[in-house]
Amino acid sequence: MSTAGRLTFGPYAVALLAAGACVFALRLALVTDHSAPNTEILPEMVRSAAWVSQIDGAPTPDGLSDRPLVAGVVPRGMLPFRYGTTPEEAVRAGAELTNPFRADDTAARERGAVVFARFCAVCHGADGEGEGLAVRHGMTRPPSLRADRALQMKDGQVFHVVTKGQGNMASYAVPIAPDDRWKAILHLRALQTTGTR
Ligand code: HEC
Repeated sequence: MSTAGRLTFGPYAVALLAAGACVFALRLALVTDHSAPNTEILPEMVRSAAWVSQIDGAPTPDGLSDRPLVAGVVPRGMLPFRYGTTPEEAVRAGAELTNPFRADDTAARERGAVVFARFCAVCHGADGEGEGLAVRHGMTRPPSLRADRALQMKDGQVFHVVTKGQGNMASYAVPIAPDDRWKAILHLRALQTTGTR
């Protein structure tokens, strides 16, 4: 028992280990798994680590990467919308706001048709009657956008509905830029007046 715990390698064992290492190296070199990302060596030379917002450690005086806005600055495309969420506020928006795009602006109307098809038709239907795909699959049916109430709504009120939401309809302020909301309203007006289906 005096040799217990001692490992001895004969020449055959060494040759076997060497052969094993060669097979392993060959396999690494020849078999490429295209679904796995390549092994990167020193990747920081290619990509730098992104700072995570609001987490300490950014090389700024306060250590935050998320910079507060300087007072009075309005980010591009983010004009403030100073209305509350109540129906009265929707009516006030209707009285105060006008569509910055004109009905004879073909490009704006074409863009509005795209926005409506992408964001509104799924519930309201391409014709605005409220038979969208989501409704056919169980979503609450919205009122027809060609009914009197929607016909009489001012553009600014529709803009308020899309921006703030109304009852069962959520706000679309985040996915649809303000100009696109106005353009979708141009398309809605075209739907309502021409009866295009
Ligand atoms: C997920 C489904 C859904 C989508 C998408 C949607 N709406 Fe609605 N919309 C509704 C529902 C439901 C109502 C009824 C809300 C309520 O009063 O409870 C509604 C109400 C409205 C009204 C008010 C109608 C009225 O008579 O009171 C307008 C205007 C309107 N939507 C326009 C739009 C426009 C424009 C878009 C696209 C930018 C859009 N909606 C996208 C579901 C949707």
